[in-house]
Amino acid sequence: MSFLLGIDIGTSGTKTVLFDERGNTIASATEEYPLYQPNVGWAEQDPEDWWNATCVTIKAVLSKSGVNPQDIKGVGLSGQMHGAVLLDGENRVLRKAIIWCDQRSAAECEEITSKIGRERLIEITANPALTGFTASKILWVRNHEPKVYEKVRKILLPKDYVRFRLTGEFATEVSDASGMQLMNIPERSWSSEVLEKLEIDKSYLADLYESQEVSGKVNRQAAELTGLAEGTPVVGGAGDQAAGAVGNGIVKPGVISSTIGTSGVVFAYSEKVSIDPKGRVHTFCHAIPDTWHVMGVTQGAGLSLKWFRDNFCNEEKRVAELMDIDPYVLMDKEAEIVDAGCSGLIYLPYMMGERTPHLDPNARGVFFGLSAKHGKQDMLRAIMEGVTYSLRDCLEIIKEMGIPVTEVRASGGGGKSKLWRQMQADVFNKDIATINSSEGPALGVALLAGVGTGVYDNVAQACEAAIEVKSIQKADGNMHEKYNKFYKIYRQLYNSLKQDFKDLASIVNA
Ligand code: XUL
Repeated sequence: MSFLLGIDIGTSGTKTVLFDERGNTIASATEEYPLYQPNVGWAEQDPEDWWNATCVTIKAVLSKSGVNPQDIKGVGLSGQMHGAVLLDGENRVLRKAIIWCDQRSAAECEEITSKIGRERLIEITANPALTGFTASKILWVRNHEPKVYEKVRKILLPKDYVRFRLTGEFATEVSDASGMQLMNIPERSWSSEVLEKLEIDKSYLADLYESQEVSGKVNRQAAELTGLAEGTPVVGGAGDQAAGAVGNGIVKPGVISSTIGTSGVVFAYSEKVSIDPKGRVHTFCHAIPDTWHVMGVTQGAGLSLKWFRDNFCNEEKRVAELMDIDPYVLMDKEAEIVDAGCSGLIYLPYMMGERTPHLDPNARGVFFGLSAKHGKQDMLRAIMEGVTYSLRDCLEIIKEMGIPVTEVRASGGGGKSKLWRQMQADVFNKDIATINSSEGPALGVALLAGVGTGVYDNVAQACEAAIEVKSIQKADGNMHEKYNKFYKIYRQLYNSLKQDFKDLASIVNA
């Protein structure tokens, strides 16, 4: 029997999962780490934490499963996208990584747009300059920490730093590298034009692979630290969204995923480079050769609910611990007893600014319509509804672009909640499917590792072997009508507040 290992370096923690060839989970382990927020809208993590969590979780998975490491045919890496890990000439990390949800680089986005030109930038990188992407984070360090920048010799994405520690190779792959905004997306290569205009030395970047290609092998030191066999192949892998898409079977036209993790993402497969002229959704390379994807991203999806849990749900946490269940299960039960629409309480999930559809780093979270009648449970449900409205914003743009939507598959931590899945069905007015595995990104990159090491012929065949739809929740037309009334106001609120967000930011950032 052969096995495949998927490692997902997420924002709240790293999850490592061992699968058999049919995609069954054999063992899984997660290790959490902190997120540092030194200023409002800033977000950083320590790459050493990712590496430690990788070692701890691989060891745990090997010991739980009892599988002989020699039987692991390949390793796939997935991870939070866009983070900038900066290394010096001795391969030492120069500062904490500025990660995907950090919003400090608005001025650098203007710099990028003026150096390359908005139209040319979109032509090459398929996207406008965004604070979320890596290029503006690199320029921020150059502009604000020149002493750090002058020591930079390598710039890596989060999962590619872990790859470096595992294999000694500086390598990345097209799906994650797309989010650096330094690639020519139609050509699937680094863009010399963008690099020259932004004055970023090409030697700082890693070698670029397709997601399924073997990019290196576990070296002796990593084998000692993790328990993996020296020489185990490590494939390119994928950014967490493309990886999750493979792990949900989003590998053909019409099948869309709606993922609620820390961020929320609606993801569609595409056989051509389709670009939203307004830049509200991202167009990146998919983890399958010669294909691309379009995705709408809402910054504060699961993040909003986690924030509420950590600040207001100590009681739920305590009871959940006694019952040995997840606090979110209890929070779900509380939200369930509140009527749809929360008697007029509407939440805007813009706690970390927003990408789709507003592209506004200054936007902030809002509870609107709060009355003395409302309580904690209403706020809880309002958060879930607000996140779902935001996902609908993403879906509407994808439909507007003429991308077919025949089936929507729910995934991510939020996809585990029956209530949240039903909310998506009703708000989108689309049936919501759930597949047999909830491992998303870890399964996706394990399947890519299987393709790269010859266990499967190609990604489509790998998905066929491992993924099937398990259940479908039907959309309720009446509920859709009800939610529509609140969604309309939800959509108006951002426009009403746009200038206020800007004014507020100018005070807070002064
Ligand atoms: C995608 C994105 C997030 C992060 C964290 O563009 O920024 O999904 O990858 O999950």
